[in-house]
Amino acid sequence: MNIAIAADHGGYDLKEALKQHFADLDLLDLGTFNAESVDYPDIAQKMVNALKAKMVDLGILICGTGVGISIAANRIKGIRAALIYNNEVARLAKEHNNANILVFGGRTMAVDDVAKYIETFLHSSYEGGRHQRRLDKLDAME
Ligand code: RB5
Repeated sequence: MNIAIAADHGGYDLKEALKQHFADLDLLDLGTFNAESVDYPDIAQKMVNALKAKMVDLGILICGTGVGISIAANRIKGIRAALIYNNEVARLAKEHNNANILVFGGRTMAVDDVAKYIETFLHSSYEGGRHQRRLDKLDAME
């Protein structure tokens, strides 16, 4: 599985820490590449472009709280960006929502917790069935 990671300045430190923690996954870094202020919609757009072009199978997005960048990514049809805040949510974001972007808050979450949530998501499986009907309805929404 190819995974990309991207953050605004509020998520830059967490992005760098996660790249080190998951060095074996060889995360594709889509920026930002320093702590200078940038706009989270631009970062979300880069990630969405990579997913839509099938360059990657999964994205990790980070801003200060995870809220702004979630809102931005979820404006795009086919994107299911899940703001993950505990281990159960990490599991259900895969089993029920088949999330294609995991979102975290660089100013609100600890690196070790976020790493655990990512591990949990990666070791979970999408259940399909009734959940697919709901995902199909998401894609049909205007
Ligand atoms: C940037 O200061 C901050 O607003 C952004 O990282 C994010 O938290 C927005 O939701």
